[in-house]
Amino acid sequence: MRSFLFVTLASLVASQNFEAPDFNVTEALVSQGVNVSLLSSLGASTERSSGVACSAACLSLNILYGDSAVEFRNESGYSAFTSSFWSSISREVRPYCIFKPSTPEAISVLVLLSRLSQCPFALKSGGHSAFAGAASIEGGITVSFENLKSIKLSDDKKTVAVQPGNVWEDVLANLSTTGVTVLGGRVGDIGVGGLTTGGGISFLTNEYGFACDNVASFDVITASGTVITASPTDHNDLYWALRGGGNNFGVVVSFNLLTKPLPSDLIWGGTRVFTEDVFPKVVQAFTDLTFNSAQDPKAGSWLVFAEVETKIAVTELWYGAPDGSKSHLIAPFYNITAVSDTTKTRSHAAYVMDNKAVQIFGVRQIYYDLTTKASYEMALQAADTYYNATKSLSAVEGLLPTLVFQHVTHGSLKGATRNGGNAMGWDTDGGPLLLILVACQWKNAADDDKVYQVLSNLMTAIKALSVDLNVQNDWVYMNYASQFQNVIASYGEENKKRLKTIASKYDPTSVFQTLQPGYFKLDRAPLPDARYFSH
Ligand SMILES: Cc1cc2nc3c(=O)[nH]c(=O)nc-3n(C[C@H](O)[C@H](O)[C@H](O)COP(=O)(O)OP(=O)(O)OC[C@H]3O[C@@H](n4cnc5c(N)ncnc54)[C@H](O)[C@@H]3O)c2cc1C
Ligand SMILES: *[C@@H]1O[C@H](CO)[C@@H](O)[C@H](O)[C@H]1NC(C)=O
Ligand SMILES: *[C@@H]1O[C@H](CO)[C@@H](O)[C@H](O)[C@H]1NC(C)=O
Ligand SMILES: *[C@@H]1O[C@H](CO)[C@@H](O)[C@H](O)[C@H]1NC(C)=O
Ligand SMILES: *[C@@H]1O[C@H](CO)[C@@H](O)[C@H](O)[C@H]1NC(C)=O
Ligand SMILES: *[C@@H]1O[C@H](CO)[C@@H](O)[C@H](O)[C@H]1NC(C)=O
Ligand SMILES: *[C@@H]1O[C@H](CO)[C@@H](O)[C@H](O)[C@H]1NC(C)=O
Repeated sequence: MRSFLFVTLASLVASQNFEAPDFNVTEALVSQGVNVSLLSSLGASTERSSGVACSAACLSLNILYGDSAVEFRNESGYSAFTSSFWSSISREVRPYCIFKPSTPEAISVLVLLSRLSQCPFALKSGGHSAFAGAASIEGGITVSFENLKSIKLSDDKKTVAVQPGNVWEDVLANLSTTGVTVLGGRVGDIGVGGLTTGGGISFLTNEYGFACDNVASFDVITASGTVITASPTDHNDLYWALRGGGNNFGVVVSFNLLTKPLPSDLIWGGTRVFTEDVFPKVVQAFTDLTFNSAQDPKAGSWLVFAEVETKIAVTELWYGAPDGSKSHLIAPFYNITAVSDTTKTRSHAAYVMDNKAVQIFGVRQIYYDLTTKASYEMALQAADTYYNATKSLSAVEGLLPTLVFQHVTHGSLKGATRNGGNAMGWDTDGGPLLLILVACQWKNAADDDKVYQVLSNLMTAIKALSVDLNVQNDWVYMNYASQFQNVIASYGEENKKRLKTIASKYDPTSVFQTLQPGYFKLDRAPLPDARYFSH
């Protein structure tokens, strides 16, 4: 009886596993048409030191897909690729080779080759993650999606299938004459891959929710090299996990995005800048917008505090239709005297392209975030805390620290209740959240530790303030998190457990935890470091 039960249980567990326990990587490669005897002649399965493993894996990819698909360190395409990252910290990472697959099948082969050779890999979509190892890997294979750029609108215009080599301006420009748009990044060259798997805040988010909650389905290459579709009806556990779970479950090769109507692609938005004397009024207008968002969800704002000779508050104001300044949630910002204003009606695509043009590339960067319950006092006091804390960094060359407020409003909470919800662990019945991001750039690596320590102290102080004001909240937003933050832990014990169960079903040998070690893993921060604030 006991053994019968045991056998039944064991076979039940096995049948729930997506990959058979006796899965043979070599045979899977053979079935993809790969000549494995060639690989072993390159040393792939015998030597396990990383240099030899990656040499064999990269040379194999070169033989299989040709010179144009693989860049080695001695090639000009290599430096062209590494210099395309937003943050100079990511540019400094030196992969053994860069692989540029042109088909999803080539990604299946890459994953299997990595398993066979034990050469690790990383995935780069738009390259806007800020820290080393997130989207590139020292000594391993960095996958560039640049040859996977198709964008296909369905005949009924309800969905658009987008490959991960696209950045948002490609997608929005492609849709701009169709009468529909999608929820994408607010800066043109953010990648579809990173933004969507980590959540995704768009100019349309207060109306429809986060980008990940507006995905009809994901086509995913799993650890066994199989392509599957995750949707509310197929593999719906994986569909849930991919909405906020990051790169822990597979390689998404197509995002099938739900479209939204946007006549003539026209929205309104821009930047309105204020001086210190009106900070409380600006924070009040931002807080009112946060709490009252359901009254007019086309209205949105982010609020940045900075010091450029003098203290300024830089608001981005937007509206998902023309002439937003008339909205009663935007009008209060116009009741406050500003020093400049660039708001206007323009196309969604043009707006994100304009925002790209003012970005700074190629300096050191960190993003660091936490959330609290939305609160006027919290926001106002966090701004004071930020100005005080960053004074001690004044000697750092090229320093530009900013404090950015965003929010998770009624529309986002509602969006996250559809189709079984997302993995991020929000209390969707609770009130809106204040999302606090400390973003900082500087010039020299010699200042890294100093910057990290001061900003970590600032995060600790802001967290303590949220406890004092009784507005603390656990969730950390992956897309703005630093390398020191354990994001998945911030989703709550239950969600973390569920994510790990799903990962062990689709990836029983932990390929996406160990062979793809970068970014926010299920059990740890990217660079766990007890000196710095985590969550
Ligand atoms: C200037 C700037 C503006 C920003 N604006 C916004 C904004 O408006 N809204 C918002 O929500 N966030 C915004 N962000 C944050 C942004 O969402 C994150 O930086 C995100 O990681 C960027 O995605 P990417 O594809 O460009 O990054 P990458 O660095 O290319 O990728 C980030 C991570 O995603 C994983 N990944 C990428 N593609 C795939 C895939 N196909 N399958 C599985 N995993 C994949 C990679 O493994 C990597 O770990 C902004 C960031 C910057 C720097
Ligand atoms: C996998 O299959 C290959 C080829 O059929 C075989 O040589 C190898 O021993 C198998 N590996 C394992 C671990 O079973
Ligand atoms: C596979 O590779 C081996 C070793 O390089 C080679 O001898 C053999 O001819 C190849 N087979 C095919 C079908 O290409
Ligand atoms: C570049 O490096 C690769 C891998 O080490 C090697 O196979 C190739 O011959 C080199 N090319 C040149 C032009 O040196
Ligand atoms: C959109 O992309 C598709 C295929 O990727 C292309 O055929 C079409 O011309 C593009 N449309 C625009 C307006 O760029
Ligand atoms: C503008 O400010 C005045 C004076 O404080 C106030 O009476 C009025 O209601 C405000 N209008 C808006 C739209 O906020
Ligand atoms: C200002 O910052 C210093 C350290 O940089 C800290 O000791 C002090 O408590 C802070 N004061 C306030 C009011 O936050």
